[in-house]
Amino acid sequence: MQIDQIFENNKKWIQEKLKVDQDYFKNLSKGQNPPILYVGCADSRVTAEEIMGVNPGDVFVHRNIANMVPNTDLGIMSTINYAVAHLKVDHIVVCGHYYCGGVKAAMQSADLGILNPWLRNIRDVYRIHKAELDGIQDEEERYRRLVELNVQEQCVNVLKTSEVQLAYKDRGITVHGWVFDIHSGKLIDLKIDFESILKKIMDIYRLV
Ligand code: CO
Repeated sequence: MQIDQIFENNKKWIQEKLKVDQDYFKNLSKGQNPPILYVGCADSRVTAEEIMGVNPGDVFVHRNIANMVPNTDLGIMSTINYAVAHLKVDHIVVCGHYYCGGVKAAMQSADLGILNPWLRNIRDVYRIHKAELDGIQDEEERYRRLVELNVQEQCVNVLKTSEVQLAYKDRGITVHGWVFDIHSGKLIDLKIDFESILKKIMDIYRLV
């Protein structure tokens, strides 16, 4: 990929958009009102907008290694705050993906320096679900299951925030856990019952 090519692509893209709608960029510059916050992996193969078939303005996107929602990370916490309290999104999606390098790295013994504290959040997910995961003999299958359980636990982390608890009470915001299967291109809804999870964790995590 040549960097110059990107600017050529951009020129073509502008022309294509203007061909359909002369005011496309004028309208885009007026503001954003996306109904969805998407939290996904930074993996180059899992482009948020393209796999969902959505356009600029449709989805507020945050991506990091292994689609994590650690409560000490100012990046994701600020994104949730802005999307939920200010943009007032109706849905939050945490989207993981099979073949995730971050999840794979967390399943192995290796000192990866500054990546250690980040990946340790995934090791914590493994510890919470150790009984189920250790019961899976096939390593590939265990890897896939950890990807799914990590999505579920990051949905739990989303539900632990005051912004989301308040938005659930006030306007019934919904939380979804998805997995993108790179091998087939399919987006899979894990059908996480976030309302039962929320009820279960509120004893300990209620903030509002
Ligand atoms: Co990944």
